[in-house]
Amino acid sequence: MAYSDKVIDHYENPRNVGSLDQVDTSVGTGMVGAPACGDVMKLQIKVNAAGVIEDAKFKTYGCGSAIASSSLLTEWVKGKTLAEAGEIKNTQIAEELALPPVKIHCSVLAEDAIKAAIADYQGKQNTQDHAQSA
Ligand code: FES
Ligand code: FES
Repeated sequence: MAYSDKVIDHYENPRNVGSLDQVDTSVGTGMVGAPACGDVMKLQIKVNAAGVIEDAKFKTYGCGSAIASSSLLTEWVKGKTLAEAGEIKNTQIAEELALPPVKIHCSVLAEDAIKAAIADYQGKQNTQDHAQSA
């Protein structure tokens, strides 16, 4: 199977690999797995006071397409608001990377991961509000 140049580029030079401080309240962490193949993706975002994602990191234990999908996604979400980042669809990732049909679920993993990271961040803010009003 031939991979697109973009998949190979993101696989060989993945952007934003690493971790952010998971206990930091400005950090949201999404950890998701693909039932189809068992691959795991961790995606983290750091959100500033204006609700804009200023940093994003990932670690992916999976195939080249999953690594490329998460690498691309971290590039896309930086500078976006949470609402904008939450609108990114796996189909946009699959299209940008020209993923073949059997690799579509790898881009689904990336969409699930950013949604989970946003939900984790928002959950932390709610907890904070409770703590402050308590
Ligand atoms: Fe997940 Fe390829 S099946 S690594
Ligand atoms: Fe399963 Fe890519 S994430 S083969």
